[in-house]
Amino acid sequence: MGPDLAGLSMRRDAKWMIDHFKRPQELVPGSSMPPILLPDAQLNALAAFLLKIEIQNAKELREAPQEMVDGALVYQQNRCGVCHQVNGVGMKLGPPLNGLAARRTRAWVEEHFANPQKLSPGSKMPPYRLNPRDLERLTSYLMSL
Ligand code: HEC
Repeated sequence: MGPDLAGLSMRRDAKWMIDHFKRPQELVPGSSMPPILLPDAQLNALAAFLLKIEIQNAKELREAPQEMVDGALVYQQNRCGVCHQVNGVGMKLGPPLNGLAARRTRAWVEEHFANPQKLSPGSKMPPYRLNPRDLERLTSYLMSL
């Protein structure tokens, strides 16, 4: 029913998108899209995300294995990128996480989340109490990088 969202950045900017999320009918008379009722911070994040979707990465996004997408979401929700890099994106307070499986076992990575200082004395990484589902998803994602 709606238009393809890949390549939007060629036609729209963030302000238009956020106004349109809030009041679709005002910007596009007759639109059947309902207003998106989310806090501004989430509307901003959604607009930033949509502006990055191009034809090529839209295809990759569609074809990405669901368990990797789920793991990447846990990574984003916990803001691991404020200290780590994945594929060159993020900060460098901690080690870049690509190639982790060559350095660490799965058991080490899981235990490290609960108690980084025990496995890496002096570590500045905070402990994470992840539920078993998120722990499994996040670890699988990291071990695949
Ligand atoms: C405040 C900064 C900080 C945050 C936030 C942080 N880390 Fe870390 N992390 C570090 C530092 C510093 C190290 C290196 C010392 C150590 O092993 O604990 C590290 C180590 C690691 C290691 C071991 C890497 C290796 O090569 O040995 C993994 C895996 C890891 N972090 C994953 C994560 C994930 C996933 C998150 C989010 C849930 C996260 N970290 C959040 C700072 C951080």
